[in-house]
Amino acid sequence: MKTFTLPGTDLVVPNVVLGLMRIADKSDDEIRTLVGAARDSGIAFLDHADVYGTELHECERRFAEALRLTPADRAELVIQTKAGIVRSGPYFDFSYEHLIESVDGSLAALDTDYLDILLLHRPDALVEPEEVARAFDDLSSAGKVRAFGVSNQTPGQIELLRKYVQQPIVANQLQLSITHAPMIAQGVAANMLAEDQSVSRDVGIIDYCRLHDITIQAWSPFQAGFFTGVFLDSPEYPELNAVIERLAAEYDVPPIAIATAWITRHPARMQVVLGTTTPDRVRAAALGSEIPLTRAQWYELFRAAGHIVP
Ligand SMILES: NC(=O)c1ccc[n+]([C@@H]2O[C@H](COP(=O)([O-])OP(=O)(O)OC[C@H]3O[C@@H](n4cnc5c(N)ncnc54)[C@H](OP(=O)(O)O)[C@@H]3O)[C@@H](O)[C@H]2O)c1
Repeated sequence: MKTFTLPGTDLVVPNVVLGLMRIADKSDDEIRTLVGAARDSGIAFLDHADVYGTELHECERRFAEALRLTPADRAELVIQTKAGIVRSGPYFDFSYEHLIESVDGSLAALDTDYLDILLLHRPDALVEPEEVARAFDDLSSAGKVRAFGVSNQTPGQIELLRKYVQQPIVANQLQLSITHAPMIAQGVAANMLAEDQSVSRDVGIIDYCRLHDITIQAWSPFQAGFFTGVFLDSPEYPELNAVIERLAAEYDVPPIAIATAWITRHPARMQVVLGTTTPDRVRAAALGSEIPLTRAQWYELFRAAGHIVP
């Protein structure tokens, strides 16, 4: 498992991490086996959010109930969670009160004294960056949160926060898979009037993050679209799956490892946030951490997913 020091922190992190959005209905044993498979694969980095599960903080609580971490176990893990979404509505809330209340709820549910990383989950149109800065200062000085980041944000939204927030913004979690890759595909087809791929949907977020040492975390790495099901083995992506399977045979790994490697091979040094609850799939995806896809192979996958290389 490839690891690196997350810029802006002293955390050594893997480039494949485990998201726990889908564990609400799993048993304690299933959760322990899932997290155990991740840890055995070198994944000691867990991604949560206050809103994962049917009830607020449900997945965080199920994780803590199943794992019953000792202080020594806790110290070996990087635990990241998110705040800023209000389910009833829904709407987004980056107010001081909401952020503090959410983090206190996450700490209680996770049964821990601190979060390694807190992300602002989705951009709040009514954000007052001074309030976010005050919340981050208080959470940091109380020892409740060690590092801060964002999710689904544009360069301008991050710049606005950075004008007021003192702590570095260390991560931006964004939707990215081979088939859902506007942040990468747009730049490949820049400046072409007739091509939908040329339309910028995120104002150059990938280059912005690279320029500012903000680590991109790729969520839904195997989903074809927005929770539409995975492209792996999907009859809707015959050409892509044929290339994935050929490369999987060449590298002697399962196909999911090639889909993972398409992201880890990118020089932006991203983290892939797995969402599977199947231990074997975690182990198989982890094998993609260090596969050195060639440029030709990486672009072949890109083209087979339907993106143009003009
Ligand atoms: N920041 C954000 O806005 C945001 C949004 C969404 C998600 N996330 C984070 O990203 C993580 C990953 O998201 P995701 O769960 O949508 O990503 P994913 O890993 O692309 O999808 C996993 C889902 O696909 C299913 N699946 C079916 N066939 C599969 C196959 N062959 N290989 C792998 N999975 C297969 C899995 O089922 P099984 O469980 O049965 O294997 C699981 O339900 C979440 O856990 C969460 O931490 C963040």
